[in-house]
Amino acid sequence: MKERGTRKDIREKKKKPPSPHEAVQESQRTLKALEDMRNDTMKGGGIELIEEQHRRGKLTARERIELLLDEGSFEEFDLLKTGRGGAFGREQTYPGDGVVTGHGTIDGREVFTFSQDFTVRGGSLGEAHSQKISKVMDHAVRVGAPIIGLNDSGGARIQEGVDALASYGDIFKRNALASGIIPQISCIMGPCAGGAVYSPALTDFIFMVEDTSYMYVTGPNVVETVTHTEITHEDLGGAKIHAEKSGVAHFILPNDIMCLREVRRLINYLPSNNRQRAPILDLSDPVGRTDPALDYLVPENPNQSYDMKVAINSILDGAEFLEVQPHYARNIVCGFGRMGGQTIGLVANQPSVLAGVLDNNASNKAARFVRFCDVFNIPLICLVDVPGFMPGPEQEQGGIIRHGAKLLYAFIEATVPRITVIVRKAYGGAYVVMNSKHIGSDINYAWPTAEIAVLGPKGAAEVIYRKEIQSAADPEKTLSLRTEEYRQTYVNPFLSARRGYIDDVIFPRDTRHRIIRSLQFLEGKKRERPERLHGNIPL
Ligand code: HXC
Repeated sequence: MKERGTRKDIREKKKKPPSPHEAVQESQRTLKALEDMRNDTMKGGGIELIEEQHRRGKLTARERIELLLDEGSFEEFDLLKTGRGGAFGREQTYPGDGVVTGHGTIDGREVFTFSQDFTVRGGSLGEAHSQKISKVMDHAVRVGAPIIGLNDSGGARIQEGVDALASYGDIFKRNALASGIIPQISCIMGPCAGGAVYSPALTDFIFMVEDTSYMYVTGPNVVETVTHTEITHEDLGGAKIHAEKSGVAHFILPNDIMCLREVRRLINYLPSNNRQRAPILDLSDPVGRTDPALDYLVPENPNQSYDMKVAINSILDGAEFLEVQPHYARNIVCGFGRMGGQTIGLVANQPSVLAGVLDNNASNKAARFVRFCDVFNIPLICLVDVPGFMPGPEQEQGGIIRHGAKLLYAFIEATVPRITVIVRKAYGGAYVVMNSKHIGSDINYAWPTAEIAVLGPKGAAEVIYRKEIQSAADPEKTLSLRTEEYRQTYVNPFLSARRGYIDDVIFPRDTRHRIIRSLQFLEGKKRERPERLHGNIPL
């Protein structure tokens, strides 16, 4: 039976409120309980595993957030969230469930972030972990701020079974739907497997840390079990492999600290969302600055190479260039810089690598970069020196037609201001693809050294004068004469200028000034797209 107090007891209780001292003590007890709860969660998997993380040369999830964001700006969500105990209802739960989530600022601009804690079950993703990530992704899309994922995870939490797989589905869906709305950046900062690599693959840029980060669908142990092949983490999915061979990683840095610093640098080039423009940053570099050295950059001999980065550094504000995928398909250079203070996306052939030819990897690399710039309102500048598409069975069998078409498609669809400067070679299909007037570029300049034609002089002479050369007394001499004749007639920028395909043949030294003036008048460019659900890019 329920005990009932007498009227006198009740009166006395009413009469005796806690003394101020007791009230303070009670509040202190509550605050202490909260503090203990928070401190327990902050420890993640415990001091031993934190030390192990440090021994491996890795920072903890919280240390990483500290370095990523402006000092003191981090506001955490769901610190006290735990899982339900797994698919089978018996598994352990973990405070925070192995991921730290929230928002903060980078140079004063808001970003959202999640940072996986490898000390808690290898940073594996369970239901609560995924709900925490989904929450910050939803906030990021709603307010229009970038999301930065610091990944250090063994993938789906095996103990949570299909709930873990479903949880990854929730994240993949958000990654795809947020694409083109907010910049999504992934840092790979430990061994990442399964879903922990698919989600980053759906984001815009992937950073990896050398020697401590790996990306693979399944780790070396599973590879050995399934294929009976021994392979190291590094060879299977190390930073070098993904930066040079697979093209999965866009940036690789020697350690966590440098990686997070580089993310901050990238964010500064980007708008917060697709409705905004990137922030203007005045580097005090005069718009009218000329560079007479550029007049002598292109060698006399058309077969001699030179470094296109000399031209790139010369035209950009303060020679500051953030190259994307610098180790992959080096025959094309992509990256961000500023001109007149505004962010531009630069795509340039690199004559010093494979003569700047377009191949499968170069086409893929540039196409994705062009798509990113277009969707985030970043004007595109193209510097052209391309002898053509790479011929031969290897490239054909690898799908050069399909991959080349991606670049063509990406440029055609781009509605941001587009400016091209033909520095030297611009032959055949590659001339058209590299942001020519014919596929919608706004302004096209050429240096006097430009060679714009269907084929290179020798190849062209061999085709159109074949019979004459074959029947000549001295075929070599005839070929040489005809080649020179072709060069004089066709291989220059002036035919194109006469047609209006080139807006002007400019002095190389004036390139920076001419581009910036064009960017200035293109500020008000109206961007229109046909009404449709989406096109069908040749993926
Ligand atoms: C649960 C995991 C885990 C996982 C690691 N751990 N991965 N727990 N689920 N997926 C735990 C380990 O049991 C260990 O716990 C702790 O994390 C550290 O792991 P270690 O193996 O000791 O670390 P290391 O030697 O550095 O190796 C890291 C690793 C390896 C390479 C990530 O753990 C590994 O191969 N994990 C499995 C990776 C994998 O195949 N994932 C795919 C999941 S499927 P203790 O208690 O011992 O400290 C998937 C599909 C998603 O993600 C859906 C796609 C559509």
